[in-house]
Amino acid sequence: MSDTLTITDNRTGQTIEVPVDGHGAFNASELKKLGVVSFDQPLLATATAHSAITYIDGEAGILRYRGYPIDQLAEQTSFLEVAYLLAYGELGTAAQLQAFQSAVLTAEVDTDRIRRHVESFPAGSHPMAVLISGYAALGALHQEAKAAVHDAAARKEMLPQAMAETLQLGALAIAAHVGQSAGTPAGDSYAGQFLRACGNAIAPKGMSEEKLAVFSRALEVLFILHADHELNAGTNAMRAIGSAESDAYSSLAGAAAALYGPLHGGANEAVLKMLAKIGDVGNVPAFIESVKNRDGKLMGFGHRVYKNFDPRATVIKKVVDEVFAVSGKDPLLAVALELEKIALHDEYFVSRKLYPNVDFYSGIAYKAIGFDPAAFTVLFAVPRTVGWLTHYDEMMSAEFKITRPAQVYVGAGERPLPAR
Ligand code: SDX
Repeated sequence: MSDTLTITDNRTGQTIEVPVDGHGAFNASELKKLGVVSFDQPLLATATAHSAITYIDGEAGILRYRGYPIDQLAEQTSFLEVAYLLAYGELGTAAQLQAFQSAVLTAEVDTDRIRRHVESFPAGSHPMAVLISGYAALGALHQEAKAAVHDAAARKEMLPQAMAETLQLGALAIAAHVGQSAGTPAGDSYAGQFLRACGNAIAPKGMSEEKLAVFSRALEVLFILHADHELNAGTNAMRAIGSAESDAYSSLAGAAAALYGPLHGGANEAVLKMLAKIGDVGNVPAFIESVKNRDGKLMGFGHRVYKNFDPRATVIKKVVDEVFAVSGKDPLLAVALELEKIALHDEYFVSRKLYPNVDFYSGIAYKAIGFDPAAFTVLFAVPRTVGWLTHYDEMMSAEFKITRPAQVYVGAGERPLPAR
């Protein structure tokens, strides 16, 4: 047996033989020799990158960053340690981590300029719209990012600054959305600085140091879980935009725009709206029936890759318990648990391999910390910025061509303009 595919076009009898690599992938552009294209709009069976960043085994429910299991990282490391691991490929030494953490946590940020950008939006604007445009605004501010497209050292160097600016942009957007004043980012962790930067947006009457400590650790874990997830829709957008040699900040705007969708990162906000609409455990069976009648989806369930439990959802359920210990239980958790219990035993969901994903419980944790549901996707985008920038850097560090799919034209043939 040879490591090849033999593809025969039975319409013409023409045959090609294409090598299959050790990962079970073949170069689909070889199909052009047969005069055909593969059609795969969702990219279900189409890889568009060789990547060493994140590994997912959807059947086994495995997620690893640079080979390290996500549950070990979530339980034993900090978000900045994970950010360093993703960006540099290895766990940092104490000295490397110290330098990286200091670069992020003490970066010089033009807060007033970011605040003016946020305040230029109408009151109540969705914070994701502010964040998406904010990345593009940062691209205008950092003209040097254009040179970084082909400068590996510059791409690494920009990461701490981009992370620090994203932290403040996200926090200011969240605070503005609820009409509260933002705070000053302070503290020795990324999540802790973020919580302080959100100021009164999460605790209008202030927050005890004990609560802040518990919520900071919970948010660190949530940020670790959201940092990367191989070629999801947002990261695919980051790479596609970057393939045109757009600068990293402009590419971030596109990646965040994809994440905003309710089928993607917008699902955490949609889950909370769904739970609130169900309202009570007693209404769950009727809601499940409505989903089975295709009158809407069970948001926070299902995944393109995970056909088993999303390992992140398992960790987040523990985070919810830790947050509830200081915030008090949210009755919506009982609705979520009932939904999960019924769905995991209902043929409709079991046959379609639909399990809770990262978005099913994260919103409950964010709400218990004090965030408005409109903030939830920003809480996804802020940590995912590290993953997006790491994928951008990985792509720029290797050979690539501009991403430009073929199409199947199904429109009108040539026709002359009617006489005028
Ligand atoms: C994220 O890709 C990533 O890695 C993303 C992410 C990341 O970290 O970046 O993990 C983050 O986006 C998580 C997913 C958040 N989205 C949601 O929770 C929205 C609800 N989920 C669905 O919209 C859906 O499950 C997707 C979008 C997540 C996946 O869609 P697929 O892979 O295209 O699956 P599909 O739509 O083809 O569904 C297969 C079947 C269909 O039924 P049939 O037509 O075969 O009868 O399952 C059904 C679907 O109708 N189905 C659902 C469902 N999800 C799929 N039915 C009810 N409720 C759902 N949630």
